[in-house]
Amino acid sequence: MTRVLVLNGPNLGRLGTRQPDIYGSSTLDDLRANLTEAAPDGVSIDLRQTDDEGSLIGWLHEAVDQRMPVILNPAAFTHYSYALRDAVAIVTEAGLPLIEVHLSNPHSREEFRHTSVITGVATGVIAGLGFDSYRLALSAVLHRLA
Ligand code: DQA
Repeated sequence: MTRVLVLNGPNLGRLGTRQPDIYGSSTLDDLRANLTEAAPDGVSIDLRQTDDEGSLIGWLHEAVDQRMPVILNPAAFTHYSYALRDAVAIVTEAGLPLIEVHLSNPHSREEFRHTSVITGVATGVIAGLGFDSYRLALSAVLHRLA
């Protein structure tokens, strides 16, 4: 069984009610169900969310130790967390795929969202497609593992 870690950063636990005009009205539980349904046989989805930077970093270390591919929505940490960037680099330097995802298109929003400190060390980035960003990332990480 291949386990795919799907990590979500701050405020994404409020999906469904948080700025639905930008993020839609579906919840994180809907996303988990959606990805679980999309996952092929032999692939399980381990979707987690935290508002805490240290927890996200710990989960990335776990991905390295357990050899798990990662889909990461760093949320606002995208724009300034060098600690998260360093942890992402540890994952990709270990040869594991890590795709950065965003529900919205940060480049069409406020200026501060145009910078990602994560993208430079991620395997790839998919943004602006709602839950499809995650579904495409799932197929990308599985393709990279194959
Ligand atoms: C986000 C975009 C970020 O700028 C924002 O801080 C988020 C969500 C997205 O999925 O579109 O919390 O990562």
